Amino acid sequence: MTNKTWRVGVAGLGTVGGGLLQFLAERPDFAPAGGRAVITAVSARNKTRARPVDISSLAWFDDPVALAASPDIDLFVELIGGSDGPAKAAVETALKAGKPVVTANKALIAVHGAELAALAESQGVPLLFEAAVMGGTPAVKMLREAMVGDDVASVAGILNGTCNYILTEMEKTGRSFADVLREAQGLGYAEADPTTDVGGFDAGHKISILAALAFGCAPNFAAAEIEGISDVELLDIKLAKDLGYRIKLVASAAKTEDGVAVKVHPSLAPLDHPLAQAGGALNALFIEGKRIGRIFIQGAGAGAGPTAAAVAADIADVMTNAQRPVFQAPAGALKPFIAIDPARAVGKAYLRIMAKDQPGVIAAISETLAECAVSIDAFLQKPVEGAGGVPIVLVTHATPESNLLDAISRIEKLQTVLERPRLLRVARI
Ligand code: HSE
Repeated sequence: MTNKTWRVGVAGLGTVGGGLLQFLAERPDFAPAGGRAVITAVSARNKTRARPVDISSLAWFDDPVALAASPDIDLFVELIGGSDGPAKAAVETALKAGKPVVTANKALIAVHGAELAALAESQGVPLLFEAAVMGGTPAVKMLREAMVGDDVASVAGILNGTCNYILTEMEKTGRSFADVLREAQGLGYAEADPTTDVGGFDAGHKISILAALAFGCAPNFAAAEIEGISDVELLDIKLAKDLGYRIKLVASAAKTEDGVAVKVHPSLAPLDHPLAQAGGALNALFIEGKRIGRIFIQGAGAGAGPTAAAVAADIADVMTNAQRPVFQAPAGALKPFIAIDPARAVGKAYLRIMAKDQPGVIAAISETLAECAVSIDAFLQKPVEGAGGVPIVLVTHATPESNLLDAISRIEKLQTVLERPRLLRVARI
């Protein structure tokens, strides 16, 4: 125990930064190691914007890098965002100056995590990022600390609140994707550029970090296979439901003998599965450990209060001098990330084929599927008003992805088929 006062410099005063100001104002008793954490200096784009707490008495820095280098702070909190630019420069500067760093920046850690871990470890200071994944729901500490005694086989879940909110609202209200996205932006879930959310990149950053923590390899965002939700149609949401599934943006990472597969796809989850039932902006995650078995966590993945609580938990780790490698192993001992060729993946899939409503259509489709060794598990033809053709939807048994892609290309060429069949994966959860 110590009476040390930690002088905290915060760069970025958006949703999370504002939440942290408020947290420390509300919690003067926050003293995990007996000492105190006091925000003494800040940096943001706009000095005069209204904030939840008066910052006029705090030292102001226009340049976050200058704040990171300041000898008047003991701990640097980076809440700017972005994988490069000022966020990266400021974090590097703080680490080089021997200051502990706490960040909520998933893009930075997913893209540059390995080099920053090496820098932090060479300087003997912590680099912590609980708030980067699932906001206030403690996924990072769970994998880095609690699961370190097990061998994690896979992690899979819903890691983007904006996409989850959009898909939930589209199903509930029958509104369009664009309409619900505007609402999500107004509610403060979405990133500054919503493409980061709806394109699947935010979930891709988060699952890349979880994969590194789970499997003890360097994060490798570039190797993640990413598909967002912008092309998910109301029609597929409805038809999937008729087949007993709900469409969710599922991020997953699995380890096999050959390597690691990191993926983000709009995927079908059985309606009674916990992932299908995690609605609204909730985040949810399954972790599969060899000895511990399956763990499921669910909670807030965004928002000022939850995310600031996660930042505060990291600040507590700094104050209590908790020492862990940045990922599951010291930076120099991280295993290489060997990506598995996506075409080798095997799983169930949903196909929607828009076809002319005439004799022989289904026979031609099922013949083509048989030629490609794709076996059907469930099948539905349902006339939909105004759909331009009749949708034929089916769920396959587990099939190699290469066979599916072959079948899709051949079905697209059938004379009675109107467009390229829509492929969605059934989540392996
Ligand atoms: N835009 C993110 C989401 C915020 O919607 O989940 C938290 O990372």
